[in-house]
Amino acid sequence: MPDTPQPLTITGGVHQERRHDSAHKHVSGEAVYVDDMPEPAGLLHVYLGLSAKAHARVRSMDLSEVRAAPGVVAVFTAEDVPGENDVSPMGRHDEPLFATDLVEYAGQPLFAVAATTRDAARRAARLAAVEYEDLPAVLDIAAARPDPQLVFPPMTLKTGDPAAALAQAPRTVSGRLVMGGQEHFYLESHAALAIPAEDDEVLVHSSTQHPSEVQHIVAHVLGVPDGAVAIEVRRMGGGFGGKETQANLFAACAALVAKKTGRAAKIRPDRDDDMVITGKRHDFEVDYSVGFDDEGRILAVDMVYAARCGYSADLSGPVTDRALFHADNGYFYPAARIESLPLKTNTVSNTAFRGFGGPQGMVGAERVVEEIAFALGKDPLEIRKLNLYGPGRDVTPYKQTVEDNILPELIAQLEEESRYWDRRAQVRAFNRENRWLRKGLALTPVKFGISFTATHYNQGSALVHVYTDGSIHLNHGGTEMGQGLHTKVAQVVAEEFQVDIDRVRITATTTAKVPNTSATAASSGTDLNGRAAQNAARTIKDRLIDFAAGHWGVPRDAVLFRAGRVHVGNHAMDFADLVKAAYMARVHLSSTGFHKTPHIHWNRGTGEGRPFFYFAYGAAVSEVTVDTLTGEYRLDRADILHDVGRSLNPAIDRGQVEGGFVQGAGWLTMEELWWDGQGRLRTHAPSTYKIPACGDRPKTFNVRFFDAPNREDNLFRSKAVGEPPFMLGISVLHALSDAVASVADHRVCPRLDAPATPERVLAAIERLRRS
Ligand code: MTE
Ligand code: HPA
Ligand code: MOS
Repeated sequence: MPDTPQPLTITGGVHQERRHDSAHKHVSGEAVYVDDMPEPAGLLHVYLGLSAKAHARVRSMDLSEVRAAPGVVAVFTAEDVPGENDVSPMGRHDEPLFATDLVEYAGQPLFAVAATTRDAARRAARLAAVEYEDLPAVLDIAAARPDPQLVFPPMTLKTGDPAAALAQAPRTVSGRLVMGGQEHFYLESHAALAIPAEDDEVLVHSSTQHPSEVQHIVAHVLGVPDGAVAIEVRRMGGGFGGKETQANLFAACAALVAKKTGRAAKIRPDRDDDMVITGKRHDFEVDYSVGFDDEGRILAVDMVYAARCGYSADLSGPVTDRALFHADNGYFYPAARIESLPLKTNTVSNTAFRGFGGPQGMVGAERVVEEIAFALGKDPLEIRKLNLYGPGRDVTPYKQTVEDNILPELIAQLEEESRYWDRRAQVRAFNRENRWLRKGLALTPVKFGISFTATHYNQGSALVHVYTDGSIHLNHGGTEMGQGLHTKVAQVVAEEFQVDIDRVRITATTTAKVPNTSATAASSGTDLNGRAAQNAARTIKDRLIDFAAGHWGVPRDAVLFRAGRVHVGNHAMDFADLVKAAYMARVHLSSTGFHKTPHIHWNRGTGEGRPFFYFAYGAAVSEVTVDTLTGEYRLDRADILHDVGRSLNPAIDRGQVEGGFVQGAGWLTMEELWWDGQGRLRTHAPSTYKIPACGDRPKTFNVRFFDAPNREDNLFRSKAVGEPPFMLGISVLHALSDAVASVADHRVCPRLDAPATPERVLAAIERLRRS
């Protein structure tokens, strides 16, 4: 045994606060993104030529001036595509790389120009002479309703007899809720760098959440097997869902130029072009009817969720499905009919965005609750608590039993810790004493289903190598976009081997090492890839135990990995010494690992199943002050109690909760997308599109974790954290609504739509003052 005292634990194991592995590089600017990589000799810069029309036939396209522009090396259109001119995800074949005779949104790519500098390519792209023949353009949900074209078959969830229950309910309310979309505003815009290799091969560095799909798309655009294409991602400067499918186009474009010219090719659209070309969060209109009793208990709902999907399917099917899965939020509906309407429009194809339709579903549920509260003159929190899932009232409209419901305890704790009722009284007093400034307070809960609803997506893979010096190389199928996935997975591997995390090398995600991966999405990156990496590490550890037991002649259970040392009977040695000895004895020190989520199944046809492995919960109390003369407001305070199970890394989880809340609040308050009558996005830069800045965070911000392990056997009893906190931001919308309602003594439900910009808040105040 060694003389020097050994540490009792490793550094950087699970449940430890550990900063993001690249935190210092993010701050110092040293973290390398696609556009920061050393440029290969002869690199070409690529820019896209875009449609000026929302819906038109392309009569002719004259690119001679583009070709003749200074610095231009080549110009490519659909005719130059050797494989299929298609970049649509999930094999739907409804999104061309380059439009041909028909354009379906303003900003749709028509051609690519490759030049020796980015500036030359960008200037040349504007010189195309395109003749269009206008077709009628359907731009928004209202315009699409009369003769609805759908991008995906709608879904209906039905439970009980909602028509009868509504007809018999003592009270009913109906209304319509309108909520806007959201631009992802990842700090790094889309980017791809393609490097041509031997024969039909190509390597693409892509800013994508879904390397395997990008690989597949590049292969089929080039007309080569998937095996000829490698996609690599070290990190993204944010994805937020915006890089789940939208990277396909840019990677395919760069790869096409690279293979056609034999030169490396890079594409990085300007912020404005990125915003115009790529899809956003879906805006929705929700038509609701709710029947309830005199106490405020919900008896039945009928809800239709209409979404602006844009010109193609993209992920709109699963997004609108997930909206329906969250139309209950945490509330029990004894009878319900909930239907989706995924509408086709001549706008950019909307896509995944943190929460993936869940936020829109929940905003609908919270409006319903608010309507009941106003109809009965009660505090909305009372109605919320009355309608939570509970014993005997625990089956969702999609027939999954809620087995892990912790909302009643969680809300009670937050109510207490945030002193909700004292502050309710203070807010009332403030509003009695102040004519123009009004305060508002709201507590809203979150219940978010964890798992991809496409069951086959719920798998993860990893690859772990142990080198003879005891250093560990970790690769897995997930991608890093700032959420801290690589740090968490490295913690898991460090924990398994009982070595300090510094020994675990985090490496770029690449399809050449770990194949057939799912998108890093649905908050499941850690659950899936963490378990896969754990399994890979366990395989190697098992071999090491077998070796040590045989070599030193002890039983297997006398070999223990603990706090940086390996104990073999009465000996103890460094991990590296064991590894070296194992290598000499020809032990295989590399392994893959795999994991698939257990227990889940879903039948979309019948609308029944268990789509989610478990639920993540949380609740937030927000307090605002509104200037009723201008509609301007301030977020004074937010108190959050959020459920991450047993946290793998409280520092990273806190960052996800804070960031998610602020991003959710931004969606519902200040972020507003605006298209003109011709379908051109007019809010395509930070000058016109306002995301939350540091100063917009709550002045007082209390974030706590609910102290309970995941009841399901998930990785170290943790829970997914990426998306659920986004929906805590709904409390800000409801706090604003509460403040607005005070101008009419809470007699009328303000029906405050989103985003609740100062303009919309002022309009609601004026409407209520007249009521
Ligand atoms: N956090 C940061 N910093 N940047 C991001 O792009 N994306 C969110 C969330 N948190 C995102 C983020 C989204 S949309 C998802 S689905 C999850 O992270 C994905 O990562 P995970 O599955 O590893 O949590
Ligand atoms: N969430 C996020 N991304 C997805 C999903 C989902 O449920 N399904 C397919 N892509
Ligand atoms: Mo997140 S919207 O599932 O990428």
